[in-house]
Amino acid sequence: MGVSGVFITGGAGFIGTSLAERLIARDRVVLFDNLSRNALAGCEFANHPNLTLVTGDVMDGAAVTAAMAGCDRVVHLAAIAGVDTVRKDPVRTMKVSLIGTYNVLEAALANHQKSTRINRLIDFSTSEVFGRYAYKVQEGDVTELGAVGEARWTYAVSKLATEHLTLSYQRQYGLPALSIRPFNIYGPRQVGEGAIHHFVVRAIAGEDLNINNDGAQIHSWCYIDDIVDGILVALDRPEAVGQAFNIGNPRATVTIYHLAQEIRRLASSSSAIRFVVHEEADVELRIPDVRKAERLLGYRPKVELEEGLLRTIQWYRRKR
Ligand SMILES: NC(=O)c1ccc[n+]([C@@H]2O[C@H](COP(=O)([O-])OP(=O)(O)OC[C@H]3O[C@@H](n4cnc5c(N)ncnc54)[C@H](O)[C@@H]3O)[C@@H](O)[C@H]2O)c1
Repeated sequence: MGVSGVFITGGAGFIGTSLAERLIARDRVVLFDNLSRNALAGCEFANHPNLTLVTGDVMDGAAVTAAMAGCDRVVHLAAIAGVDTVRKDPVRTMKVSLIGTYNVLEAALANHQKSTRINRLIDFSTSEVFGRYAYKVQEGDVTELGAVGEARWTYAVSKLATEHLTLSYQRQYGLPALSIRPFNIYGPRQVGEGAIHHFVVRAIAGEDLNINNDGAQIHSWCYIDDIVDGILVALDRPEAVGQAFNIGNPRATVTIYHLAQEIRRLASSSSAIRFVVHEEADVELRIPDVRKAERLLGYRPKVELEEGLLRTIQWYRRKR
């Protein structure tokens, strides 16, 4: 039997469903998710014949191995995503990341060495590995671990460990793996957290937009379609193997205050902007250098911030 298909852990989430939507036209796709979040519910393609949803937890190694059987490509997205959830549950954050990624790598290796040849495995890391000040950071730059005891950094530290683990499986066992570091992704189906999610939902409802401290934090925002483009080429191109890639949109860089104002303007909202004192660690500056992804993958973000925000506002409006 020919073996082909894409196995996506965390596949019912924001990035997973958007990737699945693009893949199902030409591929069999298995989404593996414990449905702690669910962006798939209500998707018009949820019952597509090429799509299978397996409800399961990445902490259950046997379940991961069984569900992965028959797939030759793996995209590992399952994680506790979003700073607020991470702060509330740092233990689960680290467990899902460390144990879950180990299980996914072991399952892929077992399949690779036996029945199914694994042609690609993409592990999802995060731009948080660059810490609080990250100006045009490159993949080879030194990463930061954050202060011990600050719950936010449990996410970055465990993701960094799993990135090392993934690339070690590639070097040591020849698993064709790579890692991607997303820089602030936004867009339709972001059912979890994120500044744009918060601002858009509240702007549409006419509620206050809450900004931490003075809103001078500077971030780059990447529209969902652009990262999906990046994932699709990383699944395909041999040059991607053994690498880490920044995926983001350096052109779409603004302060949080400006972002809130833009969303209010584009949504024709009368929401007030409220500054809230926030004592915990924040990322003050984060802009990626994406030239490595451009060079090796031909990756180029296309969607400008205003266009992406308009599409996002429209989607949340329809959802309401
Ligand atoms: N969205 C971003 O801006 C961003 C930035 C950096 C990194 N990432 C990474 O990208 C990946 C996808 O993020 P997303 O934005 O789609 O988040 P998301 O929360 O929408 O998706 C994550 C999915 O994982 C599932 N999940 C959580 N724990 C699980 C478990 N134990 N077993 C099985 N499934 C589980 C959730 O139900 C959810 O559907 C994550 O690894 C995240 O850390 C995202």
